[in-house]
Amino acid sequence: MVVPLIVLTLFCLLLSPISTDADVVRILNPGEVVYNDAQVYGVVNMAVILECGPTLPDVYIWGFTKPGTDTIKAVVYNFGNGPRVQALAATLGSLAVISNSASLSIDRLPRAAQGLYTCQAFYETPRGPKFHYYYVRLTVRVPVSKPYVLLSDASPVEGSVVVLRCGLGNGTSPILYVWQHERHIINRTITETIAQGNSSMLIISNVNRNHTGWYRCLVSNAVNAERSDRALMDVVYGPDIPHIDVEPYLVTEGGYSALERGTVLLRCEALSNPPSEYTWYYNNSQVYGGSSFLINKILRTHTGKYACLAHNTQLDTSSIKSINLTVYYPPDGSPACSVEPVLNHSSLSLQCSWPGGLPAPSLHWTRGLLGLGQEVAGPGQEIDKLSNNITLLPAVARASNNTLFTCLGSHPARNHTAYCSMRTYSPPAEPVCFAYATRNNQYLMLSCTWNGGVPRALLWWDGPMGGSGGQPGEENSNILVLRHGSAQSGQAYTCHAQHPLIAQPKSCRLTLEAPVLVTQRSVVSVYEGGDVQLTCILRANYPPANQITWFNNHRQQVLEVPKKYQLQRAAAWANLTVREADGAQDSGQYWCTTSNAVGGAEIAVTLLVLRYPMPPNVTLHKAIYSSRQRGEVELGWRLEAGAETNGDGGGGGQTPAFTGFLLEYRWRTGRSAKRKRGKEDKGFLIFSEWRASVVTEAEVRRHVQDSLAPTNTYQFRVTALNHRTAGHPSAERTPADPPFSAYPAVIGAAIGGMIIAAIATMLILLFLIRNRNSRLRDMLFGMQHSQSRENINFPDDEVVEGADEFGSSPVPAISLPRAASPIQTTPTTSQAPPTGDEPVNVTITVKATGS
Ligand SMILES: *[C@@H]1O[C@H](CO)[C@@H](O)[C@H](O)[C@H]1NC(C)=O
Ligand SMILES: *[C@@H]1O[C@H](CO)[C@@H](O)[C@H](O)[C@H]1NC(C)=O
Ligand SMILES: *[C@@H]1O[C@H](CO)[C@@H](O)[C@H](O)[C@H]1NC(C)=O
Ligand SMILES: *[C@@H]1O[C@H](CO)[C@@H](O)[C@H](O)[C@H]1NC(C)=O
Ligand SMILES: *[C@@H]1O[C@H](CO)[C@@H](O)[C@H](O)[C@H]1NC(C)=O
Ligand SMILES: *[C@@H]1O[C@H](CO)[C@@H](O)[C@H](O)[C@H]1NC(C)=O
Ligand SMILES: *[C@@H]1O[C@H](CO)[C@@H](O)[C@H](O)[C@H]1NC(C)=O
Repeated sequence: MVVPLIVLTLFCLLLSPISTDADVVRILNPGEVVYNDAQVYGVVNMAVILECGPTLPDVYIWGFTKPGTDTIKAVVYNFGNGPRVQALAATLGSLAVISNSASLSIDRLPRAAQGLYTCQAFYETPRGPKFHYYYVRLTVRVPVSKPYVLLSDASPVEGSVVVLRCGLGNGTSPILYVWQHERHIINRTITETIAQGNSSMLIISNVNRNHTGWYRCLVSNAVNAERSDRALMDVVYGPDIPHIDVEPYLVTEGGYSALERGTVLLRCEALSNPPSEYTWYYNNSQVYGGSSFLINKILRTHTGKYACLAHNTQLDTSSIKSINLTVYYPPDGSPACSVEPVLNHSSLSLQCSWPGGLPAPSLHWTRGLLGLGQEVAGPGQEIDKLSNNITLLPAVARASNNTLFTCLGSHPARNHTAYCSMRTYSPPAEPVCFAYATRNNQYLMLSCTWNGGVPRALLWWDGPMGGSGGQPGEENSNILVLRHGSAQSGQAYTCHAQHPLIAQPKSCRLTLEAPVLVTQRSVVSVYEGGDVQLTCILRANYPPANQITWFNNHRQQVLEVPKKYQLQRAAAWANLTVREADGAQDSGQYWCTTSNAVGGAEIAVTLLVLRYPMPPNVTLHKAIYSSRQRGEVELGWRLEAGAETNGDGGGGGQTPAFTGFLLEYRWRTGRSAKRKRGKEDKGFLIFSEWRASVVTEAEVRRHVQDSLAPTNTYQFRVTALNHRTAGHPSAERTPADPPFSAYPAVIGAAIGGMIIAAIATMLILLFLIRNRNSRLRDMLFGMQHSQSRENINFPDDEVVEGADEFGSSPVPAISLPRAASPIQTTPTTSQAPPTGDEPVNVTITVKATGS
């Protein structure tokens, strides 16, 4: 009876509307209905148990309200006869009632099973029936499926916007999205979470290369978590401005530098994705493709601009960077040293140069031997860093005789230092001055030298009055050129010499002098036929004059004419010897001249050629045979009256009027048959030629002639001689026989002789007067030369000209023949017919033979 009641109630309940918002039905009376609420979460396809009280109720009904609807639909009920599963249950999975309970078990939970389950349970208890409502809210959850990453651009260009989406199939919200970024940095993988939230989208608004890498998203909900596979994002970028590395690394202000002949590696790197392609340019022309450009033996000509071009083929973008590379090279050879005088030759400048290298080599001076040297730089020096020149001030310079200065040069492109050295010397001794002239004395050169110094000495000339036109200083030697005539005779020209190693300037001086000529006598006389020497002496002169030149009396230059002239000269004199002086040809003024560049000089020497005086007349007063045998004759003669005072070799140094006597004889050779009309038949006596017997000294008045033929008839005569000049011959005399008795005989003979002599003389004179051209005379006084001689007169007293340099001697020089004997008289035939009453011309050639 109870059951029908419950069923009725149940149906009532079932039919009565239930408000959804009223979860619990309240029964106000005691013993009221009890309401239980439960929330159950199930996972799709999994199993879930929906409980309806701890014990099995007597009656229960499971209802199901689909979300979004308000109708309860019965799923299972059990009124005591076992559970009855309704058709609806099929849509809610494999639903079953757990035995001995009212709980439902659902396997393989479908999503549609979600909703409100209501279990109305009746329990019969001793205290009456109890009524329970169990509300079970079942939520069916879906696990997240494996997500996937979607990139809006898998190779974005740097700077663009990239959207990453985490794609997900199923999954019950709320879902958490976590973004992970994975990248490789040098053998390491770094994974980091870069974003998380409930959004499946990740937006990178300004993508850069650091965004390159793998992206994955992790999703999770109440059920599970899943993670996606990695998706790669490859950011395309670059190339950046390249970076250039130079090896070896040698930086200078202008860029990089390298040493010649070295190996240089140029490396270029420009960040880029995809990697850059590189091209190298040298001075704008392409030289190499690739990032590393190796230059094996770099040369100075390789200096220039090197540019690296990086190219991104994908983006077709490029970037370029250039560097300047300077190739250093050493200078050629070694440094060149010089030591120059500076500051008016009071100081030394050490100069060292080694041109040509790049960069300029470094040079420095040391004093002394290489390696052992001490620095030159120090007190007393001034250093010009720019030119590597060191100036040694005077005090130091003067102490530098025979000092070695070495300049060391080094250069980065050379392994070893190079050097040069110089040794300084003071010039030895003193400066030397001398003068010389050019040809024709056109210019006069004053030379001044002072060699041997290192550096060279400075020389300059000071003329008279300190002038000379401010001759500038010259080194080692200085020549002052004076035009002819501009030199000042007798004035000093001074050459000054200055050398840095010597404290006080030195000097030498020249005094120029025009030549001065002197002679011992300005008038010289000589007797005819003699040799005479004219002297010309060179006194002061500087520079040395030309050779002295003699001009003869015809104004012709005297060259070495053999026989006539003889020239003897030395540097300072020239003697002209006029030989065999001839009165007509050689008298007159002779000149000697000379000149130098300062001036000229000439002097005249007058030569007087003197004739010897006519010897006096002589009388042969005695010619007597010594015996009757007529073998020899004694001859005696004397000067005619008045003549004796003139000569006789005495005269106190005066020239004697005669030097000797010539004794001659001849003999009769026959009688001409001719008869002269109106005269006695005497016939014409024919004589031999006159034959010289002897030439006596001037004092002699006697002579004995022997070796006569007794049968011959002889004639004797005597002539006074004066060198080349002969006097009138005496009258001939035929010797007489001696008397028998001595005294009367002698007296008689003397008287007789005198008478006979007088008669004979008269006869001969008459004969001579009548026969002036007779052979007799010619035989005696034959002329050798064609030149006729005038009467020989006594020479005038020589005129001694006013005192010349030799004026001390007032005595004129007369050159005499050197020897008077032997004398040969050579009778020759007549050559000049005598006329009128003129005196007889007589010439005796006196030949002097060399002593
Ligand atoms: C989502 O769930 C339904 C049923 O629960 C299933 O049929 C489907 O395959 C799931 N989809 C994915 C992507 O897991
Ligand atoms: C990339 O990362 C490096 C190191 O983390 C950083 O120095 C650099 O600035 C970043 N580049 C950009 C474009 O953000
Ligand atoms: C390259 O350029 C440098 C600098 O302008 C120049 O000195 C050099 O001579 C050039 N070299 C050649 C080979 O043209
Ligand atoms: C060099 O000499 C000249 C002329 O003698 C002079 O005027 C000048 O002052 C001198 N200079 C020095 C530095 O001695
Ligand atoms: C300079 O040195 C040389 C060589 O040692 C020497 O002969 C000369 O006398 C020296 N001169 C002076 C002025 O000291
Ligand atoms: C030349 O004359 C000079 C001066 O009279 C004299 O001293 C010198 O000895 C002469 N020379 C010769 C070679 O005769
Ligand atoms: C010397 O003799 C010559 C001729 O016999 C005569 O003419 C002359 O007058 C004489 N001289 C003197 C000084 O007697």
